[in-house]
Amino acid sequence: MEAALEDRLTALMRDGVVIKVGGSLNGDTPTLIADIKRLQDAQVPVTVVHGGGKAITKGLEDRGIESVFRDGVRVTTKEMIGVVENVLCTIGESMVTHLTSYGIRAVHVKGNRNVLRSVPDAGLGHVGRILKVDIGRIKAPAWNGNVTVLTPVGFDHASGRPLNVNADTAAGAVAMTMRSWAIFLTDVPGVMVEGRIMENLCTSEIARLIAAGVINGGMIPKIQEAVKIAQAGIPVRIVDGREPYGVIKGLFFGTGGTSIQSDTAQEGY
Ligand SMILES: Nc1ncnc2c1ncn2[C@@H]1O[C@H](COP(=O)(O)OP(=O)(O)OP(=O)(O)O)[C@@H](O)[C@H]1O
Ligand SMILES: [Mg+2]
Repeated sequence: MEAALEDRLTALMRDGVVIKVGGSLNGDTPTLIADIKRLQDAQVPVTVVHGGGKAITKGLEDRGIESVFRDGVRVTTKEMIGVVENVLCTIGESMVTHLTSYGIRAVHVKGNRNVLRSVPDAGLGHVGRILKVDIGRIKAPAWNGNVTVLTPVGFDHASGRPLNVNADTAAGAVAMTMRSWAIFLTDVPGVMVEGRIMENLCTSEIARLIAAGVINGGMIPKIQEAVKIAQAGIPVRIVDGREPYGVIKGLFFGTGGTSIQSDTAQEGY
């Protein structure tokens, strides 16, 4: 047991971890703060990618703008993109302030400042599909003992203008570019099928569960990203962000939430 934990710690110190913090958690993250502190103390490089779905919906509603989603992704008009950018950047800034107040060293990186190079996604308005992650700005702080907090706004590679990239997609792109372990924290105990939490899901089953409507809404982009990560041979898990020790249990003990296992790649946690 101890040897297995040592191995995991060694792997995590080498690979780092990307933690996607769902906006669904509404900033209610005391247990997460404790886990991030433990990882930083153990010299594991941490990148946090935050979401902001509920806050964006509220910010748009305050301006009388209704949100329309397609497969869990918000269709983003020209009048919406500024609101999306402002809300997300404010969440990122307050997350850094919050982490710092707990003695965690953290640096804020905005994706639209030359980090998440994107192209507009056809049919979704000002939504970006990530072409390339310019990883230096994320990796340098994380591997130097800071937590990188990435705000998932992309920039149009042709015009430089901001694009709304789904936070799960951004987290996946970052994890795959750095080959860091990935953990998606959300507001449910895991991926649910017929009322049960799935401890493991194989990538081959997932398309069928989406087609049947069993996996829907915001779980769609999350699990699609998790599938890509698993197929790249990188450990990935969807975990309840409200659960004490949720991140630590997932990373070190391979328990809690849903582990996505590739039918082809060997690794998993
Ligand atoms: N099969 C399923 N199992 C679990 N949750 C599911 C399933 N299908 C759909 N969902 C929904 O997915 C939601 C999680 O995605 P959602 O986008 O709302 O949150 P998030 O990604 O954590 O937050 P944000 O999008 O703000 O970053 C759950 O609250 C649940 O309603
Ligand atoms: Mg979401």
